[in-house]
Amino acid sequence: MSSAYHVRLATSTDIPTLHALIESSVRVLQSGDYTPAQIEGALGTVLGLDTQLIEDETYFVIEATTQPNEKVIVACGGWSKRKTLFGSDHAAIRESQLLDPKTDAAKIRAFFVHPDWARRGLGSLLLETCENAAKSAGFTRFEMGSTLTGVALYKLRGYHVVEPISVPLHNGESLPVIRMAKSLL
Ligand SMILES: CC(C)(COP(=O)(O)OP(=O)(O)OC[C@H]1O[C@@H](n2cnc3c(N)ncnc32)[C@H](O)[C@@H]1OP(=O)(O)O)[C@@H](O)C(=O)NCCC(=O)NCCS
Repeated sequence: MSSAYHVRLATSTDIPTLHALIESSVRVLQSGDYTPAQIEGALGTVLGLDTQLIEDETYFVIEATTQPNEKVIVACGGWSKRKTLFGSDHAAIRESQLLDPKTDAAKIRAFFVHPDWARRGLGSLLLETCENAAKSAGFTRFEMGSTLTGVALYKLRGYHVVEPISVPLHNGESLPVIRMAKSLL
């Protein structure tokens, strides 16, 4: 399938499409890293859309042109100038305080690629887009709570492991994620 990619800011009208994209991304691409029970417990809470990022204009989508005049959203991801490290609108812990670019690390947030479009460089394109936007806002450090699925990509792009985190889920399961960081200095 030939395609051209276009990165743009997400808008509120994208939200239903993004929920569907995120769900299929998690169910397919994370199936080798997490159990079905972990995925059920995490979807919509730890793993999902944070609409604050759309409001802040720090959340991006990648559209692919699959036919002339036909564009589909194939990936989404963002960064944040707020303290929350990961999680959707319905996460247990949300910290909306603004970060200080001089002392704090921008958060890399909520990357999801549609399974049919994985391993084509879209995660890398999102990361580059987010790092550049955060750099323009004055940040020189970035961090994230990465799923196990994301670790290989982020390591490749210069992130190092800071610590493992175990996130309790509402169904009694827990989700291992990895705090990772990168500094430009
Ligand atoms: C993690 C994710 C965003 C990566 O997106 P992607 O578009 O497939 O990543 P890229 O194509 O840019 O990958 C670049 C390189 O990273 C590495 N990489 C990416 N995904 C990998 C995987 N699942 N296993 C091993 N290496 C991987 C590879 O070196 C890859 O290069 P290659 O394909 O030439 O071997 C995608 O798998 C995803 O959406 N996963 C489900 C949701 C999720 O866990 N998101 C992370 C939230 S922190």
